[in-house]
Amino acid sequence: MIEPVYRAADDRYQSGMTYRRAGRSGIFLPAISLGLWHNFGDVDTLADSKRKLHHAFDCGINHFDLANNYGPSDGSAEETFGRVMKTSLAPYRDELFISTKAGHDMWPGPYGTWGSRKSLMASLDQSLRRMNLEYVDIFYSHRYDPGTPLEETMQALVDIVRQGKALYVGISKYPPEAARRAYEYLREHDVPCLLYQGRYNLFNTEPADLHILEQARENGAGFIAFSPLAQGLLTNRYLEGIPADSRIARGGFLKASALTDETLAKIRALNDIALQRGQTLAEMAIAWLLKDDWVTSVIVGASSVAQLDDNLKALQHTDFSEEELQQITSVLTGV
Ligand SMILES: NC(=O)c1ccc[n+]([C@@H]2O[C@H](COP(=O)([O-])OP(=O)(O)OC[C@H]3O[C@@H](n4cnc5c(N)ncnc54)[C@H](OP(=O)(O)O)[C@@H]3O)[C@@H](O)[C@H]2O)c1
Repeated sequence: MIEPVYRAADDRYQSGMTYRRAGRSGIFLPAISLGLWHNFGDVDTLADSKRKLHHAFDCGINHFDLANNYGPSDGSAEETFGRVMKTSLAPYRDELFISTKAGHDMWPGPYGTWGSRKSLMASLDQSLRRMNLEYVDIFYSHRYDPGTPLEETMQALVDIVRQGKALYVGISKYPPEAARRAYEYLREHDVPCLLYQGRYNLFNTEPADLHILEQARENGAGFIAFSPLAQGLLTNRYLEGIPADSRIARGGFLKASALTDETLAKIRALNDIALQRGQTLAEMAIAWLLKDDWVTSVIVGASSVAQLDDNLKALQHTDFSEEELQQITSVLTGV
């Protein structure tokens, strides 16, 4: 069968997506971005991955978040993206904001992990080849490396920008003191940090509690939230047990042990609040992150187009009454 040629929806910027400025930069990102950590590897079908990527772009999602090791297998999400890039998204390259990262285990030996200059430079070259790209829009240090001088990691980021292989740089999961030094180093070398990427959701409020959001803002960086649905826990996915095609059942970082009776009770109570608001729990969890402008964008994962559509509906109702916020706090704290 001859595949139809993809043509992006003409109304992709009028379909309800909003765009937020990343820190004190010239860059706007969609309030909802799509991440390829799961659901785009070589264990998934290319046709499905393509469908989700096309649909996302048709709905105004122009930011795709990747990393060297996304899959499974490692590197295969970048390969999938590269194939879609080559066959359908290439004409839209200048509308897209594409990220990748290095810092977690990727290839054997001492250079396939952490934050040395050797590792970051080699990894980005591999990523560009897999993704069929000449440059990425943002390259992240995926995690703070306590064994490598921070200056070495940051100088590698600076040089990557100077080489034209990335337009901007970012840091992910850095503890506050390391983040402070990273912001300073990058600023002093005229490559200001564009984004801090951190795990932020109703079950994990560390970025607010540890003032990471505030610190990003003070340093002119945007904050981009990952795992907004706690990998699917903050949805209706597990209300009736563990579906066979779910992330828990497929095996990986999210374990069945995360579904304790206490957590399930919280999920049910949050689900009730969401229903009162006329939303699904997934919509409410995303809306809760977007309710104020501290968050530049929320990176969702989705195993289907239907999930993506549900998540996008969050944008239609991001206001919360004081009473709703109190109800949510009381569910989370048990007080
Ligand atoms: N910087 C880092 O270290 C880091 C770490 C993790 C993630 N990230 C980034 O953040 C992205 C998102 O992370 P994540 O995948 O954990 O995000 P998430 O949005 O918290 O979880 C996505 C999962 O939730 C379920 N889901 C999504 N929408 C749903 C809906 N409307 N209703 C019911 N279930 C729904 C799906 O699970 P099922 O598969 O069960 O359907 C989906 O695979 C990643 O792809 C990656 O780009 C970055």
